[in-house]
Amino acid sequence: MQRISYCNGHFLPHQHANIVHIEDRGYQFADGVYEVMHVHHGVLVDLAPHLDRLDYSLGELGISYPCSSRRALESLMYEVIRRNRLEYGSIYVQVSRGVSKREFYFPKKPVTPSLVITAQRMQPFNPALLQQGIKIVTLKDARWKRCDIKSIALLAPVLAKQHAAQRGAYETWQVDEEGYITEGASTNAWIVKGKTLQTTPATHSILNGITRQRLMVLAKDMGLKILEKRFTEADILKADEAFLSSTTTYLLPLSSLNGKAVKRGTIALALREKYAEYCARATR
Ligand code: PDD
Repeated sequence: MQRISYCNGHFLPHQHANIVHIEDRGYQFADGVYEVMHVHHGVLVDLAPHLDRLDYSLGELGISYPCSSRRALESLMYEVIRRNRLEYGSIYVQVSRGVSKREFYFPKKPVTPSLVITAQRMQPFNPALLQQGIKIVTLKDARWKRCDIKSIALLAPVLAKQHAAQRGAYETWQVDEEGYITEGASTNAWIVKGKTLQTTPATHSILNGITRQRLMVLAKDMGLKILEKRFTEADILKADEAFLSSTTTYLLPLSSLNGKAVKRGTIALALREKYAEYCARATR
């Protein structure tokens, strides 16, 4: 089946979806934002909080809304889902400030934001990742100081992912100047201590993951406590369990950090199960 993408008012075969202008500010300055949403049984999971976060990112950067309304954007996303006959996978939405002569400051005359929507089928999941756990390595956090904005300026996370790939690891957890873990290149970071889940507080140093927020609600329902407090590599090695979360991975438990064993337990897997049940329930 042909993959269809949306680009600035047109639904196009994916291989021909190349109509972004060379002076698009997203292309030249990474002056744009994005969202990645999970599609379960043809339905977007946690659509409202994702669109709230998109509003927040756009607002923080002063980029105009790319559609006449939130409803209109939702309709476009569902049209992409429909045209791709997407049952399980993800939807990527990118908004850039628009096309304008290359000057750093915002365009003097208002420009129309550029909007791109793509669909991806879910990759077959490797259940061994849950049994064996994943390897994590660390790297100095080289990102800017507004990681709460879901900006398309992703060079530091690209390098962090490559750092992991070259070491046979699944993800890189980034470390701030004081030695605290901020988050993964594209995931949030957690440790488990007894019945408490500890995760980095949602400041400007991390992206407040929608999965992170959903897991907090589900964990409380399971009688677990949440502690939003920074932790170090030493804390991870002392913890009962550690795991990461994101829209595309749900939740994955760690087996090692920089080659040192991380303890395994049952809480991360139980919480993952609850999250999977939530996705099924929310999209029925
Ligand atoms: N990444 N932290 C960072 C830096 C991220 O890029 C992401 C998401 C997360 C998890 O957020 P959420 O639970 O809302 O997916 C945390 C997406 C999936 C991506 O860039 O592909």
